[in-house]
Amino acid sequence: MATATQSIREIVASQASASSVLQRFEIDLCSSANQSLTQACMDLHLSVEQVLDKLAAAEAERNGAPPVDPASMSLEKLVQYIVRRHHRLVRQEMPRLAALAHKLATKHGERSPELIAIDGLMDELQGELIAHLEKEENVLFPYVVHLDQHLGLARPPASSWFRRVSQPVKMMMNEHETALGILDGLRSLTNGFNPPEWACATHISFHTGMRAFEKDLKQHIYLEDELLFPRAVELEESTDATRRG
Ligand SMILES: [Fe+2]
Ligand SMILES: [Fe+2]
Repeated sequence: MATATQSIREIVASQASASSVLQRFEIDLCSSANQSLTQACMDLHLSVEQVLDKLAAAEAERNGAPPVDPASMSLEKLVQYIVRRHHRLVRQEMPRLAALAHKLATKHGERSPELIAIDGLMDELQGELIAHLEKEENVLFPYVVHLDQHLGLARPPASSWFRRVSQPVKMMMNEHETALGILDGLRSLTNGFNPPEWACATHISFHTGMRAFEKDLKQHIYLEDELLFPRAVELEESTDATRRG
């Protein structure tokens, strides 16, 4: 939990959700890096209590456990949970982290050329993930919800490009592998998301943000690959077996 006496650098290094909160209050991560939160707030005539409240609220929201164990949710509820929690986080964090990578490449790319490669991989990851979320939300998830609501009686619309739910599921699982491969590339270019000695606070906040983003993305992919997708495939198969029987 952040405190008023910690420096801006310490706060962004220990809390992944901190940099976006501080930026909303227009606290500059680079020029204020060595100031305490109290000093940075005094300079900008901000209430330190208010900033601490927002920091605590952001962290509580980020770490919030699901209201119910996802394994016991209906398919419809699981889809809603994934979209509300994990897709929302990708849409919030991906552009912010890609913008930080771009800023770092522009500012320090000459000294550390790997920052230019990191910037390129972040653009690639953003393109992959945003297109992936749209396919899930517009094609696969509505079909899974329909399957769940009609106890497996659903059939893909005639206009659809797939005949069995296992087809888009396989495609989404391949896309998960692609995204995890890009993350692995980022991991090796960043020494496991650990900033170098000379890193400024923006640089530190990029690494803290990426560690949290990777953790969330792995949980998101686990919920889809291990819970949602196998259950949807099983539901469709059991319905077909009942029909044949
Ligand atoms: Fe997803
Ligand atoms: Fe996915």
